[in-house]
Amino acid sequence: MLNDKLGNWTRTHRCGDLTAEQMGQEVCVMGWAQRRRDHGGLIFIDLRDREGIIQLALDPDRDSASHKKAEQVRNEFVLAARGKVSPRPEGTVNPKMKTGEVEIEISELLILNRSETPPFMLDEFTEVAENIRLKHRYLDLRRPALQKNMLMRHLVAKTVRNYFDGQGFIEVETPVLTKSTPEGARDYLVPSRVNTGQFYALPQSPQLFKQLLMVSGFDRYFQIVKCFRDEDLRADRQPEFTQLDCEMSFVNRSQVMDIMEGMIANVFKEALDVELTLPMPRLSYAEALDRYGVDNPDLRFDMELIDITRQVAGSQFKVFASVAASDGLVKALNVKGCATFSRKELDDLTDFAKIYGAKGMAWVKVTEAGWQSPIAKFFSAEELTALNDRLGAEVGDLILFMADTPAIANEALGRLRGHLGQKLGLTDKDNYQFVWVTDFPLLEWDGEQRRHMAVHHPFTAPLEEDIPLLDTDPGKARAQAYDLVLNGSEIGGGSIRIHDQDVQSRMFDLLGIGAEEAREKFGFLLDALAFGAPPHGGIAFGLDRLMMILTGSDSIRDVIAFPKTQKATCLLSDAPNEVDDKQLQELGVRLRSRQK
Ligand code: AMO
Ligand code: AMP
Repeated sequence: MLNDKLGNWTRTHRCGDLTAEQMGQEVCVMGWAQRRRDHGGLIFIDLRDREGIIQLALDPDRDSASHKKAEQVRNEFVLAARGKVSPRPEGTVNPKMKTGEVEIEISELLILNRSETPPFMLDEFTEVAENIRLKHRYLDLRRPALQKNMLMRHLVAKTVRNYFDGQGFIEVETPVLTKSTPEGARDYLVPSRVNTGQFYALPQSPQLFKQLLMVSGFDRYFQIVKCFRDEDLRADRQPEFTQLDCEMSFVNRSQVMDIMEGMIANVFKEALDVELTLPMPRLSYAEALDRYGVDNPDLRFDMELIDITRQVAGSQFKVFASVAASDGLVKALNVKGCATFSRKELDDLTDFAKIYGAKGMAWVKVTEAGWQSPIAKFFSAEELTALNDRLGAEVGDLILFMADTPAIANEALGRLRGHLGQKLGLTDKDNYQFVWVTDFPLLEWDGEQRRHMAVHHPFTAPLEEDIPLLDTDPGKARAQAYDLVLNGSEIGGGSIRIHDQDVQSRMFDLLGIGAEEAREKFGFLLDALAFGAPPHGGIAFGLDRLMMILTGSDSIRDVIAFPKTQKATCLLSDAPNEVDDKQLQELGVRLRSRQK
């Protein structure tokens, strides 16, 4: 069977664009055969392109040559067709499809290419194992759901560029073969052939370069940029991912946040036609932990954590009293109306909390007869009244308790809150709740390495009023940092930077990075800060994470054209792969595994 030639055929419409509006017009469409149905003489082909599907009707009496060709068409054959847009016969109208009122009465058909039988059906409803989809990603990407995701990703990138351009930002590219940027993950290293024994690092972010661009006077920079982090992968992490990266000079935190809110609002308007209410709420880190237990709270539902440490400090329940006496926290969640939870459900919740270090989970079912709970007997009538009052407890409620160090009590109960939100159906995907979390601690103590680490990165400025703490109690100093959280997911993070060379050196000191190491790793930044660095700050958003939420995807892989697996491999191209000895030799690299 010969493939037809395209010749001077010109496409007039995309398949998905045809509606009753084009009724009676002669059109030409091109695309892939999704399905062929033979109806005694008449042949129908569903032709698909990125905009949708149109039904082609081939009648042997209209054009027998085309009809003959149509008999050979199989799934995923590439076709071109000319004909007249016509109403579908009565009873075959499909109101669920955009093109469902019409079909094309074909007068001429070309088979432009054939296809082997695809390894899986491309119609939307087929559930296919992901490894098979990823191996044939070019076919997987033909599926309407992924086409929609990629088209929306393009629209978002375009909207971002337009917005930033309108705000006086310019896009500047920064190097990919570079030096380590400390963002907390492992680096991907690239051996240098010309400088044997030396390595480039792929950027974990363009952090240092965007700061240098501020020193250079570019004032407002952005870039849609690939970043590389060798870390353990999760549903919302990829080894290479894309940031919407920004930096601005002569601004404070509020000004950065205001501009970024405008960008996000534009994106939601363009991509989803959703109007966001601005300004977005802002919460300090301390308040986020106090009320929600985590620094990325999901604000689609309330169920706040309630601190009852004071109320239980004198109680007979030893677990609570001893935690209260040793600077720990006792916190509770009132899960409204859930006193009906089974023993098994409570055990599952306890197991969930244990993942985050909880030692146990006490519970109370509030009934007409009072507390039904293994721990009820430990509390006096007055204590119960005070607790009920504090907890807002009503008949039918389930109360969960966590007693532990502040870090574990908050995290375990905070995660439990998130988990319950999902379980109880309080996390509607079409409800978009943003919150800025600010005033993060500047440093955190790393018990293993016995030194402070930067919570954000070493270039983040402390709050002005906390600068004296750097000398007295650095662990208490707060940072001029901010994260944007959407529905419990951190979609962006940034800070005002240190623009004073002395403060930056002091910061390296605090992080246990000696003068020599600082010079070797970041000398170029320290030098630049000495030559008139303006006050500056910025932020980076995870474009992939934002796209997951905009498209309602559960996996980050569904918004990336060619993603990596959990094991950081590409099943399509088979990367990473072994290389020749010759190549290694040129690079001056010898593999332990190949040493005899
Ligand atoms: P940060 O490390 O917080 O900040 O990264 C910014 C945002 O990038 C996204 N992100 C990821 N997305 C997918 N896969 C990953 N492995 C991954 N890692 C991070 C997150 C995160 O909020 N240079 C600073 C920004 C700044 O200070 O301006 C930075 O990179 O959504
Ligand atoms: P016990 O007296 O140790 O059997 O514990 C009584 C109840 O308290 C059980 O339901 C435990 O799960 C719960 N519990 C134990 N330790 C903690 C803790 N650290 N925080 C909250 N509840 C706990």
